[in-house]
Amino acid sequence: MNNRAFYITTPIYYVNDDPHIGHAYTTILADVLSRYHRNAGEETLFLTGLDEHGQKVQQAASNRDVAPQQHCDEMAPRFTRLWEKLHISNDDFIRTTEDRHKRVVQDILERVYANGDIYEDEYEGLYSVSEERFITDKEAQTGEFRDIKELKEKNYFFKMGNYQQALIDHISSHPTFIQPEHRKNEIAGFLKQPLNDLCISRPKSRLNWGIELPFDSNYVTYVWFDALINYITAAGFSSDQESFSKWWPASYHLIGKDILTTHAVYWPTMLMSAKIELPVSIFAHGWWLMGESKMSKSMGNVIDPMDLIDDYGVDPVRYYLMREMVLGQDANFTLESFIKRYNSDLANDFGNLLSRITTLVKKNFAGILPEPGKLTQPELDIRSSAEDLVELVNDKIRSMNINDAIEEIFQFIRSVNRYMEYQAPWKLIKEDKSSAGRVLYTAAESLRISAMLLSPVMPNRTKDLFHALNNDSVSPKWGGLQPGRELRHHEPLFPRIELKMEKQKPEIKVENPENMITFEDFKKVDLRTAEIVQAEKVDGADRLLKIQVKMGADTRQIVAGIAEYYKPDDLIGKKVILVANLKPVEIKGVESQGMLLAASDESSLTLVGLDDNDLPSGLNVS
Ligand code: MSP
Repeated sequence: MNNRAFYITTPIYYVNDDPHIGHAYTTILADVLSRYHRNAGEETLFLTGLDEHGQKVQQAASNRDVAPQQHCDEMAPRFTRLWEKLHISNDDFIRTTEDRHKRVVQDILERVYANGDIYEDEYEGLYSVSEERFITDKEAQTGEFRDIKELKEKNYFFKMGNYQQALIDHISSHPTFIQPEHRKNEIAGFLKQPLNDLCISRPKSRLNWGIELPFDSNYVTYVWFDALINYITAAGFSSDQESFSKWWPASYHLIGKDILTTHAVYWPTMLMSAKIELPVSIFAHGWWLMGESKMSKSMGNVIDPMDLIDDYGVDPVRYYLMREMVLGQDANFTLESFIKRYNSDLANDFGNLLSRITTLVKKNFAGILPEPGKLTQPELDIRSSAEDLVELVNDKIRSMNINDAIEEIFQFIRSVNRYMEYQAPWKLIKEDKSSAGRVLYTAAESLRISAMLLSPVMPNRTKDLFHALNNDSVSPKWGGLQPGRELRHHEPLFPRIELKMEKQKPEIKVENPENMITFEDFKKVDLRTAEIVQAEKVDGADRLLKIQVKMGADTRQIVAGIAEYYKPDDLIGKKVILVANLKPVEIKGVESQGMLLAASDESSLTLVGLDDNDLPSGLNVS
């Protein structure tokens, strides 16, 4: 695949909500891969965009009381602004409400219709409003679908089943068509059952925000049938043949795991019917979880990428997202792990190395990068690991092991740090200036190569590093850095993030903490005002009284060990405080449903009462 044009796509995002870290992730991943392929000299088309039709968008617009098109026009800049801020280098940005796209959708519908793969039928079944499609009874029972209603409607259906066998064959003869492997198996399993036909229309009476069917103006196109086609619209299908044959088939459709079936089943069968080649690969990544749980608005744990960028900078955010997720698996986002990664990899290992080099060169070589001279064994070792690293990173990125590729680069950087420690050029300078120069050149050149490999992930800070080294070589070959040039002043590349003050608050010292309860513990105790309405001795127990108390509309029976201190009749009418949520117990065969508060020493006992004996019973005491 090395020499052909590289075409990569992200899902097109619904404009019903603001972009979040999940959207940012796929777009950054596509950006990293595009930059990598561009750096390798390949022609690249990187497409992202917006999915603007369908019920979700119509609903979002109506919630805001604006027309759907206006809603889309107002939402689109929220995405484009974020992509600019994240330094996304997309070549095209498609919106499904654009004319260029509507034309292609109608063209495809006509082709599929002419092929005899679309038929009209009345269908009665369960419809999930949230998923915008008919669902089977079995699906309804999974509980994963919301807003289910019975619907009987005339619609148009695409005979997806006609292409089931062809799709099964394609998957088995193209082992990298669906990646990673476990997702391929998931689809292969799904295809063991007969494929239902796909309802591809929505009557305008129910939903009118969509692309009209070319063969029936009473209907609009189902949003997924419309959206998937964006990938060929942007490549120039039916508008620019030269462009289309250059870019299509796409090298990668990057998607999240939740939209695998639409991409790996609907899309290829649609293309087969329209007689268009299938994409080379569909790659489904996992989900970002927030501290082990799903990110959702209702849980209030949605991360706004804009905030993160404002707080910590673009490149660290891109780095963290690429470094922490093993492609294909879910990953866990926590601010703590973000800061840890930043401080250990970026501040300590990477940024510090540059500062050490530039400081030593400034101090001892008047700021001019010294000549390497003749390399000795340790430098030859470093040079050969740098050469291996370039190959290794190439392989890992092309096989979509992005996090591994990054880890390899950092292992190399750590080995250069160890080399610096061992050679100690700050000491060497006093006895052997040219050796110190060799060490500093070697470290600087290693850093240049590492930064070059990291530049697709961190395009900005690596540029700052090149600027500081006064470097303009983009060659991955050892020796690209020019000795004799003056290094430039730079700010720390990645200043350490100090953990926020509230995390470092001095703890309040507590003696015997094991005797303490928290306020939360205390709040569990339900204390109430109560009025004693009846009291009598418990048979066979001298110290016990059986007391009936009124607590609001409720009456409770309490057994209390107060017979030595109170006569039953003296208690009637007394207002006391009751622990109302104690588990009932049996005392001498009599049930006790609470406890009265009392103050006591060895010889006396007084029930805790109220200043104001007229207060009603049942009030909360706190
Ligand atoms: N509009 C459709 C895609 C049509 S493509 C022809 C859509 N849009 S979406 O905005 O709901 O989701 C877009 C992508 O965001 C999906 O790939 C989804 O997997 C991804 N993510 C949503 N939440 C995510 C995380 N928490 N983590 C990672 N990606 C997640 O579906």
